[in-house]
Amino acid sequence: MKSIYLTRFGKPEQAFEIRETKTPVCKNDEVLIKVDAFGLNFADVMARKGLYNDCPPLPCVLGYDVVGRIEAIGKNVSVINVNDRVISLTRFGGYAEYVIADARAVVKISEDMSATFAASLATQYCTAYFAAMEATKISEGEIVLVHAAAGGVGTALVQLLKLRKAIIIGTCSSDEKVNYLRTLGVQHPINYKTSDYKIEIKKIIGDKKLDAVFDSLGGKYIRDGMKLLGPCGRMICFGGAELNSSKNIFSRWRKIIQFGFYHPGIMMMQSKAIIGVNMLKVGDNKPQILKRVLTEVVSLAEKGLIKPAGGKEFAVADLASAHNALESRTTIGKIVVKW
Ligand SMILES: NC(=O)c1ccc[n+]([C@@H]2O[C@H](COP(=O)([O-])OP(=O)(O)OC[C@H]3O[C@@H](n4cnc5c(N)ncnc54)[C@H](OP(=O)(O)O)[C@@H]3O)[C@@H](O)[C@H]2O)c1
Repeated sequence: MKSIYLTRFGKPEQAFEIRETKTPVCKNDEVLIKVDAFGLNFADVMARKGLYNDCPPLPCVLGYDVVGRIEAIGKNVSVINVNDRVISLTRFGGYAEYVIADARAVVKISEDMSATFAASLATQYCTAYFAAMEATKISEGEIVLVHAAAGGVGTALVQLLKLRKAIIIGTCSSDEKVNYLRTLGVQHPINYKTSDYKIEIKKIIGDKKLDAVFDSLGGKYIRDGMKLLGPCGRMICFGGAELNSSKNIFSRWRKIIQFGFYHPGIMMMQSKAIIGVNMLKVGDNKPQILKRVLTEVVSLAEKGLIKPAGGKEFAVADLASAHNALESRTTIGKIVVKW
């Protein structure tokens, strides 16, 4: 079988190499999936640039989520059958023709679901669901800020927050994305390239404060967000895309310091919370949570309560273009690469 290895850090045109490897054999609690499409995640871009701490040593195979068909099952697996169409979380290894997955991280999906939507249900929707519905329990009427709202996790958050009837302020970096966010039902989309998003938020909320900030950018966006939050406000930190713009180690450290420092006593006095979300850690330590969340988002999708949003397919030969598109901030929704 073919696997796509990350062999060196840098530009995608030089970073990847397709190698022939032996098709793996699944153990008792695992399944073997023939991959139709694997998803791209922003963490892949960070890993390719050598900015992702959780990335295994090189050479390694990236890939957190796949859409495909069950080729074989381990002898303890009963809920999934050979030939079922499935999505799976893969915890690396997804950029390959076949992957082994823990059966708890695999869910059957309908035959007609698009590959982009199906793949988004794994990493993007699981992250969004855990952050918005479990870690914070957003409720009706709460005013929430979603950064990178037109991205993969962003569009998932928007749809889940709409289910909770929250008032959504969504930031993004182009007018095309602003228009797209309006069609998704974001009441207050803001292009933070053409206006100061903090001033725009003040105009929208007046004397009120935000109830939650979903932050995937890090750096100064956390510090700004903490000031915009009111009592009972929650800052949900789940990414550091800002670090991607760092040109060297010094600017990276400057951005890390820009996060700010928060004393628990002050947080208590102000009744605010900072919540960190890392789905790798959730999966490693609480696989039952990941299983529950994955099952729940697939059920919402099958009932039509959440819908495909944006998304684009690339062929394996165009993997570099897919990486460049995601890194250049031009994509809306989930990117997948098809074999
Ligand atoms: N903690 C977790 O477990 C977990 C799991 C999944 C994803 N994540 C994080 O969630 C975020 C979204 O992931 P995704 O895969 O769905 O990607 P994505 O949102 O589709 O793409 C990243 C988006 O981030 C925004 N961005 C802001 N500053 C950027 C910069 N300096 N360079 C590049 N992009 C920048 C861009 O949107 P605008 O230009 O419109 O702002 C871009 O489209 C990422 O930060 C990712 O690391 C975390």
